Amino acid sequence: MTTQNTTTGYGLHQSILPNDDGLYGEFGGKIGHPELAKAMAEIEVGFREIIKNDDFIAEMKRLRETYVGRPSPIYHAQRLTKHCGGAQIYFKREDLNHTGAHKINHCLGEVLLAKKLGKTKVIAETGAGQHGVALATAAALMGMECEIHMGVVDIKKEHPNVSRMKILGANIVPVSRGAGTLKEAVDSAFETYLNELDTSMFAIGSALGPAPYPEMVSYFQSVVGHEARSQFLTTTGKLPNKVVACIGGGSNAIGMFSGFFDDKNVEKRRGTRR
Ligand SMILES: Cc1ncc(COP(=O)(O)O)c(C=O)c1O
Repeated sequence: MTTQNTTTGYGLHQSILPNDDGLYGEFGGKIGHPELAKAMAEIEVGFREIIKNDDFIAEMKRLRETYVGRPSPIYHAQRLTKHCGGAQIYFKREDLNHTGAHKINHCLGEVLLAKKLGKTKVIAETGAGQHGVALATAAALMGMECEIHMGVVDIKKEHPNVSRMKILGANIVPVSRGAGTLKEAVDSAFETYLNELDTSMFAIGSALGPAPYPEMVSYFQSVVGHEARSQFLTTTGKLPNKVVACIGGGSNAIGMFSGFFDDKNVEKRRGTRR
């Protein structure tokens, strides 16, 4: 059974909701630092309120349709299907969204929430830069300040995305400590956030971090799976045997799988970098 507004393209299955302590079995949890815990509680209360608010739901629907370009199509990859010689392969074309990835789905939700909480700035980490670009875009759209922390190694590797973030008005904070990559960027961003809790909101880039982020990001990304399920049914008259997604932090995978949790015969597969 899916919960919450499935008719608007969102909804998380009961089986993937955390308990009151933000735990998913032995994983997850809430933050221990008292000031941060207060900030997380503020975000959690705000999140639970907006997803029941008709104005918020209507605004997200409007932005998804007229700004992001949703629904993104599904595409039958006929040459790849032939090349692989087995399964009929379809792509859910999240790359056709504005900014070129699924990240814009949760960024719009996070920035709208930050506004509702009376914040003037969003802070985040980015690795490949795709979350940073999407967040900078959502922040520019809604007139919010945006600060992106990025490891120096990633800045070098992903410089086209760094230029895009700068053009969108984001302030890029290079992080040189440790390996100079995503893990250090997360620490640096959280440190800044701790000093600006009244005016800023942390806008995390995937289905990870302390509660309520994994649930919140999953919720905003669930539109991918709900759309894909109905598009696949319309196009082929049946459900897929498998849905497959790549995993960094897990946001596109959980978004896609969210549409198929009640479909026991649809196998869910994730691929990680080895
Ligand atoms: C285009 C794209 N797809 C997938 C991912 C993986 O992230 P996630 O597992 O949160 O979907 C990233 C990460 O930056 C990305 O940029």
